[in-house]
Amino acid sequence: MKITVAGAGYVGLVTSACLAELGHQVTCIDIQREKIDMLQNGRSPIYEPGLESLLVKNLRNGKLDFTVDAHHAYSNVDIIFIAVGTPEIHGGSVDLKYIHVVSHTIAHYIENDVIVCTKSTVPIGTNDLIKQIIHSRKPPKLHAEVVANPEFLREGSAVFDFFHGDRIVIGTDNPKAVSIMEQLYLPLKIPIITTDIKSAEMIKYASNAFLATKISFINEIANLCEKVGANIEEVAFGIGHDKRIGHDFLKAGIGFGGSCFPKDTKALVELSGSVEHRFELLEAVMKVNNRQQSVPVLKAKETIGSLQDKKVTLLGLAFKPDTDDVRESASLRIINELLEEGAVVRAYDPIAIPNAKRILGNTIEYSSDIRVALHEAELAIIATDWEQIKHVPLEVYCTHMKDSIVIDGRNCYSLQEIQKYPITYFSIGRPYVF
Ligand code: UGA
Repeated sequence: MKITVAGAGYVGLVTSACLAELGHQVTCIDIQREKIDMLQNGRSPIYEPGLESLLVKNLRNGKLDFTVDAHHAYSNVDIIFIAVGTPEIHGGSVDLKYIHVVSHTIAHYIENDVIVCTKSTVPIGTNDLIKQIIHSRKPPKLHAEVVANPEFLREGSAVFDFFHGDRIVIGTDNPKAVSIMEQLYLPLKIPIITTDIKSAEMIKYASNAFLATKISFINEIANLCEKVGANIEEVAFGIGHDKRIGHDFLKAGIGFGGSCFPKDTKALVELSGSVEHRFELLEAVMKVNNRQQSVPVLKAKETIGSLQDKKVTLLGLAFKPDTDDVRESASLRIINELLEEGAVVRAYDPIAIPNAKRILGNTIEYSSDIRVALHEAELAIIATDWEQIKHVPLEVYCTHMKDSIVIDGRNCYSLQEIQKYPITYFSIGRPYVF
């Protein structure tokens, strides 16, 4: 099929590269010329494992191209995917300006019947709005069917998730559109769920809200474990064995970050408010998450007292491993709190330093060498469970730091191992080691 993907962010790029890999003819359009030039030269503007090689391969074999030209992108295609950004604006509402612009542009440039498929995470009712815009402005004789097709790609494993997802959701009441979408996704052999547009939109928000709830729940159990002397790893393992609960998303830590859970939970609370329903459970999930991100600095103050002029090393800037994304990362909150306490902060990350620098500037020092980052530090805080951090031999903390005090916000080390070293170690929901 001939496909256009609007938006060269992580969802748009992964969708473009993977659909081209399936053999479709894909054009990806974005308004940022610099980004498009970079992509045309086979370089990915984001770090996403496996993405760049798929981009290069499909650029070379002519299955994929990048453009800023709307006529080229929209005038002769079977399916248009909308994957533009839907950023948060004050108080949790979602900014739909890019959705508006792209819907108008599509209506203006289409020259044949198309399916317009929304991948961007959009508030319930947005696909009806897209439909209205396109229908009111397209040439009257053309047919444009709008389908809600939310994505469930995790940053850091988005390419894998595209090919091995748990389900594909298709929201439309048009049987012809269902059959075209089924044909598109059939080779993936992933269960397809067809439903109405609003339910498809809600499935996306409810999925992210439920996963966020699991995380805040396990973090609260972890906080309780610390108080009563239980171990959260044992508890999560024990409850996860119940198939109704499952093991996934029960890893206690310093809360969820990223461009999705914080934004989507806020948006759902906001949406509930707008229809006069108070989503109290999700409000609590967000509150617990905010509090959890402050746990490392609270523990630091409890342990060493004032942080004024203390040399603190933060290990990990990305909101999770295998990504260079620092949006809503717990690390940013921790760094701001450390700076407010007067600490001198140095941060390590294997790939997220450039993105962090854009936000934090020169307020902290950076190092992409873990040993250099730890040199002479009086305290280390682990904020991201990168493999590079998990595999640092424990003697490195003892030999490089001034005081070997480690606050592990991601439970990277086994307590048995830690006990063999002269390290003062605090983790989340587990007994302390002195
Ligand atoms: C999330 C969802 O998992 C995807 O299904 C969804 O498509 C995506 O949002 C989106 O809406 O686009 P993502 O934000 O990339 O994906 O990352 P996750 O792997 O879900 O992790 C989110 C945060 O939760 C991270 O900060 C991670 O450290 C934290 N987390 C995750 C925990 O603290 N504990 C866990 O057990 C799991």
